Amino acid sequence: MSEKRNRVSRRQFLNYTLTGVGGFMAAGMLMPMVRFALDPVLRPAAGQDVVPTDVKIADLTDEPKRVDFKIKQIDAWYESEEVKSAWVYKQGDEIVALSPICKHLGCTVNWNADPAHKNRFFCPCHYGAYEKDGTNVQGTPAPSPLDRYVHKEKDGYLYLGKAKPQ
Ligand code: FES
Repeated sequence: MSEKRNRVSRRQFLNYTLTGVGGFMAAGMLMPMVRFALDPVLRPAAGQDVVPTDVKIADLTDEPKRVDFKIKQIDAWYESEEVKSAWVYKQGDEIVALSPICKHLGCTVNWNADPAHKNRFFCPCHYGAYEKDGTNVQGTPAPSPLDRYVHKEKDGYLYLGKAKPQ
């Protein structure tokens, strides 16, 4: 009975060793690159549902007031701050926060800015008009109501979030 010898030759041993070490080194170099490429996808979303403004709820009236606020924007690897605006007023106990972006072509609307449109939001670009609650006035280029901001009250101050279509 002959014993089958199952020995690894010197050449095979060298091949296995070099393949293993080479693979380990390649993985060590590639992993940081893959991690860097996927980083924005893996990063948890910035928890900025609403951001604070410097407006006290108690100071709001039934007259729309322009409120500027900043939001943090994260675009892949680039972080920046964007200044946004809202038209905010009280309707009884309810707070209304409207986007100033005209739904026609994106100009900025102003409150009570045109004598022909008293107590309305008016867009100077193509004469679009919106009622106080943001409803678009028929017969003007405004195609749909102004967006409304998500808002919240905290410690007596107004917090604003994303603008959503009405
Ligand atoms: S952009 Fe406002 S009416 Fe055209």
